[in-house]
Amino acid sequence: MQLVQTCAEVRAWLATERRAERRVGFVPTLGALHAGHLSLVGVCRQAADRVVLSVFVNPTQFGPGEDFSRYPRDLERDLRLAEDAGVDVVFAPTVEEMYPFGRAEVTVDPGPLATVFEGRLRPTHFRGVATVVTKLLALVAPDVAVFGSKDAQQVVVVRQVVRDLLLPVQLLVGPTVRESDGLAFSSRNVYLSIQERVAATVLHRALVQAGDGIRFGVRDPQVVESRLRAELATEPLGTVDYAAMVDAERLEPLLTIEGRVLLLVAVRFGATRLLDNLCLRVHGSDVQEELP
Ligand code: PAJ
Repeated sequence: MQLVQTCAEVRAWLATERRAERRVGFVPTLGALHAGHLSLVGVCRQAADRVVLSVFVNPTQFGPGEDFSRYPRDLERDLRLAEDAGVDVVFAPTVEEMYPFGRAEVTVDPGPLATVFEGRLRPTHFRGVATVVTKLLALVAPDVAVFGSKDAQQVVVVRQVVRDLLLPVQLLVGPTVRESDGLAFSSRNVYLSIQERVAATVLHRALVQAGDGIRFGVRDPQVVESRLRAELATEPLGTVDYAAMVDAERLEPLLTIEGRVLLLVAVRFGATRLLDNLCLRVHGSDVQEELP
């Protein structure tokens, strides 16, 4: 496995891969790798001959007062995990390498899908994500890029960016990997106190219960949402930012539960925000879990 830190090195490596007509896959991350990230490497391996993984704590997607400076960073550990997972190249640029002129003047407008839920609470977040993902895709020019369903709204926003800007890449989505008690792996789980870590299982529990309700025939979105909120409210350490059910493409409210639907939850434990979601395809009485 190779570690590269400059755009020039990425381009040089790519030239060889292109001459050999190898399919390149790409997994962008903020680092602090965990089992969720590594599962995306597995998905990528299935679809490509070479896997590039980026480790870059992108400053432009963190808002003022967010955790940019204290975000966990451990490149040595990330390199070991990436190598064991079968990554070929880790691209770990400096901020100056990615933003050589300081804050980018030209940015990518992520559009209306980025104004709701996470985007409403973190108004500059998805512009930062859309911009860095577009830059990384322009640099790495992969055949496929893999994103995790854990961040369902990010998947929806990035998919729209790729469609609207005609970016020549196939997006793949990997399933959410969870700890044995259901909590989705997240680099931010390390911020939780022991009590908060126990309480955090409420996100998955509430989603599973809501999903069961739909499987048992509930078709009124408001009933599902209020049950979701009621379960989340059983955990006093958590403050709910949002708990909603929307259509999985446009993230808009539903009149009835039919087609591809997405249950989204965000809960704060102290200063730590945790996200989770459940995507379902509902056709009459048939209910299947899906990737967003
Ligand atoms: P990061 O939070 O490091 O996540 C990198 C990728 O891993 C994302 O696609 C995310 O959805 C996925 N992921 C996170 N937790 C997961 C889990 N438990 N199971 C499966 N996949 C999981 O998302 C970002 O970084 C950044 O916004 C980025 C896309 C890299 C742009 O900077």
